[in-house]
Amino acid sequence: MQTIFSGIQPSGTLTIGNYLGAIQHFVGLQEENNCYFCIVDEHAITVPQDRLKLRHNIRSLAALYLASGINSEKSTLFIQSEVPAHTQLSWMLQSISYIGELERMTQFKDKSAKSAGKEAVSSALLTYPPLMASDILLYKTDIVPVGEDQKQHLELTRNLAERFNNKFNDIFTIPEVSIPEVGARIMSLQNPTKKMSKSDENEKAYISMLDEPKKIEKKIKSAVTDSDGIVKYDKENKAGVSNLLTIHASCSGESVEDLEAKFEGKGYGEFKQATADAVVNVLKPIQDRYNELIDSEILDDILDKGADNASFEANKMLKKAKKAMGLGRVKKKG
Ligand code: TYM
Repeated sequence: MQTIFSGIQPSGTLTIGNYLGAIQHFVGLQEENNCYFCIVDEHAITVPQDRLKLRHNIRSLAALYLASGINSEKSTLFIQSEVPAHTQLSWMLQSISYIGELERMTQFKDKSAKSAGKEAVSSALLTYPPLMASDILLYKTDIVPVGEDQKQHLELTRNLAERFNNKFNDIFTIPEVSIPEVGARIMSLQNPTKKMSKSDENEKAYISMLDEPKKIEKKIKSAVTDSDGIVKYDKENKAGVSNLLTIHASCSGESVEDLEAKFEGKGYGEFKQATADAVVNVLKPIQDRYNELIDSEILDDILDKGADNASFEANKMLKKAKKAMGLGRVKKKG
């Protein structure tokens, strides 16, 4: 049995990208492993948030995890800010992180480029990766299932763990990253050279997990493709069609090759309709379960239990880390 940890930011309603790149794979991992799934609200505040929207998004993300198949009897589901050990260890890891390596993170570069210069970028955006490392390292995590965009953060996590172990004491497990073969990078429907993101300003660029079937159909029908009219996977020259093929394959379980054969000689209209149907088939049952859960007390019970479980484990590792670094004191026994 291995320990699995992954987190998702409550920074908007999740997209089909978050589902296909991450959550979908979490569900199967629960059977054989010890899993922790986290709503990383402290990561979300590294960029400005509206407090009421954030509150809503935190609860909504918890309901979406469960509606997608996360089972609270098998996994620990919790909110990051309810387990203070995360920010405590993060401070300690910041003391061994270099500004240079943090400034090299693509996510930091992208998000800070969107703001108007360094004066408008929070220092927490820069120190985001040590917090992510602390999320993972607190639980002796063996495997971190994520989409492709998190690979660089995982490499830094491994470096920080090794640096700490060599400098102080060998306490941290070095985690492995697990990235799915298909669906690790779902692209924007409007600009298929850009990653699909829940914070995109153009709503047509992403499918939200809570979009109504009609809306999903409309968005897929207006997805950017090309003028060839051939349903073929070619990421370089046919980025839009390739992205739809990936989405279709990940939702229906068919292979990309089978789909190419199925739609040979058929136009994009038919292909897009079938892709929309495949997405709706996956999302509709999740949406129904979500609606039952979102205002229920069960959700609070699960999150309370999750925070207790996670705190218990995390505090043990935090204690070890403090001891290794020489923080606090050793009581004199009289
Ligand atoms: P976040 O909230 O941006 O995304 C959550 C998960 O969804 C994956 N993902 C995608 N996969 C495929 N295609 C896409 N277009 C797409 N967009 C997002 C992400 O790779 C991720 O797996 N830093 C993390 C959250 C985090 C975390 C952690 C993850 C904080 N602490 C510890 C793992 C372990 C983030 O911003 O993910």
